[in-house]
Amino acid sequence: MTRVESILEDTFYTECMAKIDAREEDRKFCRHNFQHFVDVARITYILMLESGAIKKFMEENNLNLKLAKELIYAAALLHDIGRWKQYDTGEDHADVSAGLAVEMLANTGFNDSEINVITTGIREHRRMTDNMSLLGEHLYMADNLSRICSRCATRDECYKFDEMETGRRMLIY
Ligand SMILES: [Fe+2]
Ligand SMILES: [Fe+2]
Repeated sequence: MTRVESILEDTFYTECMAKIDAREEDRKFCRHNFQHFVDVARITYILMLESGAIKKFMEENNLNLKLAKELIYAAALLHDIGRWKQYDTGEDHADVSAGLAVEMLANTGFNDSEINVITTGIREHRRMTDNMSLLGEHLYMADNLSRICSRCATRDECYKFDEMETGRRMLIY
C-alpha cells in the first residue's frame, strides 16, 4: 500500500470525513467531500506540471517526480480535513487541517521535512498571499478551479463566487 493509500485507510481520516458529511448534510453550497479532495489533488498536480513549478518544487525539496506527486496528493487529500471543526468552533479550517494532518502523516510514513512541506501548503490554501510556498499557491488555485461555479444554482448567494471566477478567468481564458 502506498503512503497516500494509507492516509485513506487511516481511522481518524475516515472519522473526519464522516464528521464533515454529517455537518454538511443540508449545506446548499459546495461540499467538502472525497470528490472535492481528489479533484484538488488532480488539478494541483496538473497545474504544477503544466506551469513547470513541479521542477522547482522537486529541487527545493530534493524530491523525484514520484515523491513530489505523493506530497501533492497527500496535501490535497488532507487540505480540508478539519472543516468539521470550523463548523463546531469557528476555527480556521486551514490551520485545523494542518494540525490534524501531522499525526496522520507521521502514522502513514511521511518524515518530518515532508510533513512540514505538506502542512505548510495546507495552512496556506485558503488565500493567496505574498511568499507562499509553491504547494500552497497551487493548492489555492486548484481549490478554486475544482468548483463548477458557472453551473451552480446557488452562485448568486455564494461569498466565494467572485473570487473563484476571477481565478478561473486568469488561468483558463
Ligand atoms: Fe479549504
Ligand atoms: Fe477545498
